[in-house]
Amino acid sequence: MKKIILLGVFAATLAFLQGCDKPDPEKVRANLHLPSPDFVANVTLGQQLFVKNCARCHGSGGQGTDQGPPLIHKIYRPGHHPDLAFHFAVKNGTKQHHWGFGDMPPVVGMSPEDAGHIISYVRAEQKKAGLY
Ligand code: HEC
Repeated sequence: MKKIILLGVFAATLAFLQGCDKPDPEKVRANLHLPSPDFVANVTLGQQLFVKNCARCHGSGGQGTDQGPPLIHKIYRPGHHPDLAFHFAVKNGTKQHHWGFGDMPPVVGMSPEDAGHIISYVRAEQKKAGLY
């Protein structure tokens, strides 16, 4: 009897799982505002985009200003703020939580690829500074 019940539960679970829609990787990628898998980041372009879009708060070399924190800082190394955190901050902004500069507003008009170039620049500078 027990075996039959177990089999029933197994069959029902299987039917349920098969009924679920598999998440479409393209939709997941778009929702998370991530570049396509074959994206290749360009550090030089990233630096230009950083100066144009981020420097007024984070400083021209990422050392911070009176409007925002330094990104070349151990708090923002990959082990503590992975690339996903950068994509998220660019798309959605972020509430003040680590510092006293206020909230970061979303950076409008920036593509996931633009953000990807910027991240490669920030990571290169973090590495140069010996942060990871
Ligand atoms: C108007 C000012 C402003 C601009 C422009 C700005 N930021 Fe920020 N950003 C901030 C502030 C302020 C914080 C700190 C929030 C806190 O933790 O208190 C922050 C935090 C962050 C963080 C950390 C997010 C987290 O999860 O803690 C990242 C990553 C970041 N900024 C990246 C960027 C990038 C990349 C750009 C340009 C594309 C940018 N920011 C433009 C003000 C700004």
